[in-house]
Amino acid sequence: MTGGSGGVIAIDGPAGTGKSTLSKLLADKVGAHYLDTGAMYRAATLAVLNAEVALDDPASIGRVVGTANIELVPTGGGRSRVYLDGADVSGPIRTDVVTNAVSAVSAVPEVRTKLVALQRQHAQQEVVVVEGRDIGTVVFPDAEVKIFLTASPEARAQRRHRQNVESGRDSDYDTVLASVNRRDHLDSTRAVSPLRAADDAVVVDTSDLTIDEVLARLRDLVAERIGAQR
Ligand code: DC
Repeated sequence: MTGGSGGVIAIDGPAGTGKSTLSKLLADKVGAHYLDTGAMYRAATLAVLNAEVALDDPASIGRVVGTANIELVPTGGGRSRVYLDGADVSGPIRTDVVTNAVSAVSAVPEVRTKLVALQRQHAQQEVVVVEGRDIGTVVFPDAEVKIFLTASPEARAQRRHRQNVESGRDSDYDTVLASVNRRDHLDSTRAVSPLRAADDAVVVDTSDLTIDEVLARLRDLVAERIGAQR
């Protein structure tokens, strides 16, 4: 049994599809917990960078992450803080250095085994919205609701670029597009748990939809599968 006893809403898809925003909003609307599995891979990556281990050395990466203490603590309203060895790393895991290294770290089988076990612990009782890349395929293959969000690379790069500009960060659209394409390629061609839609996932293309339109669609799906009360 890999599904939580309360119900798992799996939301997978590449970066820039609105996945994080939608997962948090959905969790809030349906009164579910929210689990950001990307944050766990980011914390693992920070551990690797702190240990100054080479990104092409999977054995050392596996060893460092194996001894790292990674915790995700929900703080309500679809929010959570991430801790690495007791320190709050919620900010540092969002830096470009981590973003550029995370695909290498998340491709290491020992890293995935450890984090998947942690993710399953989070879904023992409550209804939980779990956001990631392999949630419907590997982590919770029995999830009650499986959603795969997609959008064109250009739409995703445009969103990321706009977020950067809005938060005052230097940003160049072509560089962002290249980074989106690079991460897509690495995440979908890795040997272990590549990014792909589960056969029974509902695929939603968000390129031309507003957040509210997608959210309405997701709430309908949850109501159909988990119950009208949610
Ligand atoms: O969602 P995000 O951008 O914070 O995820 C960061 C990286 O972690 C992403 O490039 C791929 C990896 N990841 C993964 O391999 N499996 C998951 N379930 C979640 C994220």
